[in-house]
Amino acid sequence: MDYYTLLKFAHIIGFILLGGGLLAVFMSEFQAYKTSDICTFAEAARYTAIFYDAFAAPGAILVGVSGFFLVLELGIGFFAEPWVVGMWGLFLFEFIEGNTVTRVQFRRTLRRSQDALKRGNPLTHDLRDEARGLFNKVTHFLDIPLFTVIVYCGTVRPDTWVHVLVAIGAGVLMAALFVVLVPRIARPWGATPD
Ligand code: HEM
Repeated sequence: MDYYTLLKFAHIIGFILLGGGLLAVFMSEFQAYKTSDICTFAEAARYTAIFYDAFAAPGAILVGVSGFFLVLELGIGFFAEPWVVGMWGLFLFEFIEGNTVTRVQFRRTLRRSQDALKRGNPLTHDLRDEARGLFNKVTHFLDIPLFTVIVYCGTVRPDTWVHVLVAIGAGVLMAALFVVLVPRIARPWGATPD
């Protein structure tokens, strides 16, 4: 296997791990919104942390490092093509946000829900809102739309900034819809925990 093919192979394994981890997090977060049981709520927070650490984080490192060397190997430059800038720019934003704000959020959610479980507290609206506030929702629900935009950049390779910016706009809109709709789809409007 030559060097370029090895990089490409690593890049694909990297984004399979990252994408798989983000989709798994989406499902564990969905379960947390859906449930009225404190055990399931705490378990969902535990799985969110596991999926981030076991899949998303190593996948991100692999896709980032292999992507960097792919740019060097192909000699395309980091600023020459809008699709390349779209890939590493969004990746860098997601990587920093994912390892700072999101990580603080899911660790806090894990602590709060495990604490409530230990105390035998029921799952209340307050606990739910405290463990998963608006900021938590935004950081989580940005992941998959922005990942999709990066895949679009890597496969469709838009050659104008307009295409890249429209794709990012569509990604942000999708994230906003997730923030509004997912908690409501998971738990019908106004339904209160038992
Ligand atoms: C979430 C992060 C990323 C995802 C999901 C992703 C996804 C992809 C996809 C789907 C392709 C097309 C593969 C193919 O043609 O078979 C690709 C190619 C590429 N990616 Fe990424 N990528 C990511 C991050 C990066 C980063 C950070 C860089 C640069 C620093 C990068 C540089 C490249 C380059 C140069 C190619 C072209 C490879 C070629 O022509 O053979 N990628 N990426």
